[in-house]
Amino acid sequence: MNPILRISGWLDEARLSADLEPDAMALATVGADGRPSVRVVLCRGLDARGIRFFTNYDSRKGHELETHPEAAVVFLWPSLNRQLRIEGRIEKLTPSESDAYFHARPRGHQISGFVSPQSQPIASLDELRAKSAEAVAKFEGAEIPRPDHWGGYLLRPRAVEFWTRGDDRLHDRLRCELVDGEWREARLAP
Ligand SMILES: Cc1cc2nc3c(=O)[nH]c(=O)nc-3n(C[C@H](O)[C@H](O)[C@H](O)COP(=O)(O)O)c2cc1C
Repeated sequence: MNPILRISGWLDEARLSADLEPDAMALATVGADGRPSVRVVLCRGLDARGIRFFTNYDSRKGHELETHPEAAVVFLWPSLNRQLRIEGRIEKLTPSESDAYFHARPRGHQISGFVSPQSQPIASLDELRAKSAEAVAKFEGAEIPRPDHWGGYLLRPRAVEFWTRGDDRLHDRLRCELVDGEWREARLAP
């Protein structure tokens, strides 16, 4: 069975749960040297194709995804005793999809996305604050254009694992894998 519906149900339940950052997911990528790196990003939507997130295309993750368009994410919802793992291919969202999300963000977030050279060394945060103030003045009363270096990605699931805590470490693990265009399910030992 296609796991997208179940992912959607788990995300809905997480958003109603006591967990503070239900949309936060650890995103793992691989560098050109084959070394993994991981950081937290926010899941900003799910559709039949997969999961969306937004970031700086020139960041470390952006460069890694350019070289290896493959990623793995994991959500942890402690109050629900659930973990959700998703692996798959990455593609960029279309410019119009990125525009729509960028312009829906609070203006301050748009400004930061505009001025922050994510993952690059900077002299100080004050330097960025000064750049932000300049951008605020420059765009006063006008729409802030989405910079080319900022946009969204789609993670298209190839493998998904639904993990639920069980008694005595007998956790339930349901793994769904796309094989020749068909979803196959298997129960894995905990
Ligand atoms: C709860 C939380 C949510 C975050 N959400 C995002 C996000 O949606 N997009 C993003 O680019 N960075 C987000 N970050 C910051 C990233 O963890 C990371 O510091 C940044 O993207 C740079 O990563 P990189 O140098 O590996 O590319 C978030 C951090 C936390 C703790």
